[in-house]
Amino acid sequence: MKTSIFSCSERGSLKQAAKLLVQGNLVAFPTETVYGLGANALDPEAVMKIFQVKKRPQDNPLIVHIAKEEQIQELVTYISEKSKILMKTFWPGPLTIIFEKKEVVPAIVSANLPYVALRMPSHPCALALLREANVPIVAPSANLSGRPSPTKAEHVREDLRGKISCILDGGQVPIGIESTVIDMTTEPPTLLRPGKITKEEIEKSIGSITTKTTKLEEYKSPGMKYKHYSPKAKVILFKEEKDIRELLAKKQKESPLVLVYSNAEEMAHSLFADFRSADAKGHKIIFVQEIEEKGFGEAVMNRLRKAAAKK
Ligand code: TXA
Ligand code: MG
Repeated sequence: MKTSIFSCSERGSLKQAAKLLVQGNLVAFPTETVYGLGANALDPEAVMKIFQVKKRPQDNPLIVHIAKEEQIQELVTYISEKSKILMKTFWPGPLTIIFEKKEVVPAIVSANLPYVALRMPSHPCALALLREANVPIVAPSANLSGRPSPTKAEHVREDLRGKISCILDGGQVPIGIESTVIDMTTEPPTLLRPGKITKEEIEKSIGSITTKTTKLEEYKSPGMKYKHYSPKAKVILFKEEKDIRELLAKKQKESPLVLVYSNAEEMAHSLFADFRSADAKGHKIIFVQEIEEKGFGEAVMNRLRKAAAKK
């Protein structure tokens, strides 16, 4: 299959990409978090292609992206007052909210669960594409399953060229890690995945939430059990440079790379791209200096720890 690469700013390219989506094809597009791999959420055959192309396990549900609040009523049974506040405060933006789903949402989207995850992204290219397509769009990160999420169109090309119809190139994404996911079907609500929108920010708007997942939530968000974000190289975390001096000297044969970031924003922005380029350059070990696990730092360190977890 030929993969067309369009620029988000080219006139007519959004129209063409939207048409491809409506016709049941896969289109990758930038969001403010990471690049997504889109398909028409109401077309189970199109959604199935996502699982095949990404090699994604089918028990891992997908996020449905929308551009207008009117689209929500069609997809979910009930919107609580707290959910309304979250939507008003954080949408469009990097927050994914889990609701009870209506029948119209295909089982393959929600991995047979009675729930659906919704997000209204704020990236102008994503919003324009969603408006033009005028159907809800499922979009997992546009990488092969298990690889670091794509933060540039080039990363999508690396993983998916020849397997999808189109890539919309909008340059480097602004945030660099995936959206915050909150489950509003539990009381108190459960934070399932940390992201740019922090627990503290959410609690300021709707009161206390929990990060403790019970067996039930683990059943509800099977995606949590999968390993994510990992480069091929081994990732080792460190606090101070003196802690790794000896190890670094010992591991010279493995062409170690040392990554140091000055804050959470910078780390989020570059981490996944740096993992990919380390693999391309043949580094076998990557040492990454930890950052403070406060505010946005908590979410970025969450991704880094997953990447460093034993394979
Ligand atoms: O920033 C993002 O969220 C990006 C962009 C493209 O929007 N998308 C993304 O999708 O990261 P993905 O598929 O890589 O991650 C979706 C996460 C998974 O951990 C999945 O298990 C969880 O959301 N999820 C999706 N639907 C769910 C549901 N109905 N119940 C519980 N968890 C769900
Ligand atoms: Mg992903």
